[in-house]
Amino acid sequence: MKSPGVQEVVQTDLEHVWHPMLQHKVLRQKPPKVIVGGKGSTVVDAEGQEFLDAMAGLWCVNVGYGRKEIADAVYEQMLKLPYFPHTQINEPAALLADRLADLAGGGLRHTYFVNSGSEANEAAMKLARQYQRQVRPNEPRYKFISRHYSYHGTTLATLALGGMPERKNKFGPYMDGFVHVPAVYPYRSPFTDPEQCGKYYAEQIELAILSEGPETVAAVVVEPIQSGVGILVPPDNYLPEVAAICRRYGVLLIFDEVINGFGRTGKWFAHHHWGVTPDILCVAKGITSGYQPMAAVITTSEVFEAFLGDPGQGREAVQVNTWGGHAAAAAAGLANLKIMEEEDLPGRAAEVGAYLLDGLKTLLDIPIVGDVRGKGLLCGVELVEDKESKKPLDGARVQAVIQGAMARGVIFARSGGAGGGLGNTVCISPPLVLTREEADRIVDTLRDSLQEVLK
Ligand SMILES: Cc1ncc(COP(=O)(O)O)c(C=O)c1O
Repeated sequence: MKSPGVQEVVQTDLEHVWHPMLQHKVLRQKPPKVIVGGKGSTVVDAEGQEFLDAMAGLWCVNVGYGRKEIADAVYEQMLKLPYFPHTQINEPAALLADRLADLAGGGLRHTYFVNSGSEANEAAMKLARQYQRQVRPNEPRYKFISRHYSYHGTTLATLALGGMPERKNKFGPYMDGFVHVPAVYPYRSPFTDPEQCGKYYAEQIELAILSEGPETVAAVVVEPIQSGVGILVPPDNYLPEVAAICRRYGVLLIFDEVINGFGRTGKWFAHHHWGVTPDILCVAKGITSGYQPMAAVITTSEVFEAFLGDPGQGREAVQVNTWGGHAAAAAAGLANLKIMEEEDLPGRAAEVGAYLLDGLKTLLDIPIVGDVRGKGLLCGVELVEDKESKKPLDGARVQAVIQGAMARGVIFARSGGAGGGLGNTVCISPPLVLTREEADRIVDTLRDSLQEVLK
């Protein structure tokens, strides 16, 4: 069958496809690009133009594009057995769960497989509620505490959990039981001492637990480094304090490492930077580097064992997904993790990430660059009207910076709308195979695009 031409693909697409987050009325004048291929950190469109993908797709193609080993592993698994429901065992999913237990460490040993980050967080909340019901049957622990500006997914419950008004306001009312506390946003906090800052924002969680009543709280859910709002790296004492508070009140701690995980921040998982272990860890994106859709919820043995009981007692997890533990997706995950281990991509993210961050910090001499921050290959450049007031740069100018960079062949993303004019950070989350030369190009291109907006 003859392939259609580019124009035909665009026309067919706009006729029938509903794209996420885009205004279709303007797409006819300016359609999105048709992306047809990729290698390493570079993607190419149907016209042959190359782009350095400084976002690794949607923060996920950690091993880079064009990895034949993953394609071969998926192909071979599909010929053998593409899929079978996970009420039975399949080999790649068993081996992947074993690798995840090793890499996560800290007693996180039991994996429930799902298909997306949203589903992972949704499943984690259900497991947390059922756990509390089985462990503390006399306490109505159903509430979740999470943070303003957070993004945890697109389903109704994960939107309720999240704290991004622009993503959630059109879909309410939401169900009861979701309590939000302030995000740790060092650049916009009144504290100059990081320790005071970390302590204050951890105490906000304790305050929320106490004011709701600890006997009503199932879990606290946080992303170790809050990504979507613009890469908020917490002070070093924050997560250990949050973990101690959760333990004090019998509240489960859930880490959403959908973006943070699999080497992105310079360690296998972001929580490894701070020596804290959650009760439940949610992962997605980098688990397969986007070569197949897959996500997972990984729990400690203590959580897992609360679901053991005799047949008929009904203690097992009441949770099922058709594609959970998909054999071909698990084969992709195994091949992906093998590449990450063999090439030490977490180590590489730490090293090239530090180099990139140093380069990005040189942009602070530009009047509209308010803050530069990051860990590993997860960085943010926050744009402001002026450094004194820290007023977020007008959205149209932020967008112009992103578009200017795209025209120069580098793909960045704008942080998610958190209300109050935020959405003013340029996010950078490239494949972990990024070279130093490519890091230089990211910095140079961003400088050129920022200077153009200043004119
Ligand atoms: C921190 C975080 N959690 C959850 C999700 C939802 O993941 P998915 O889009 O795979 O459902 C995202 C998506 O970007 C995310 O950034």
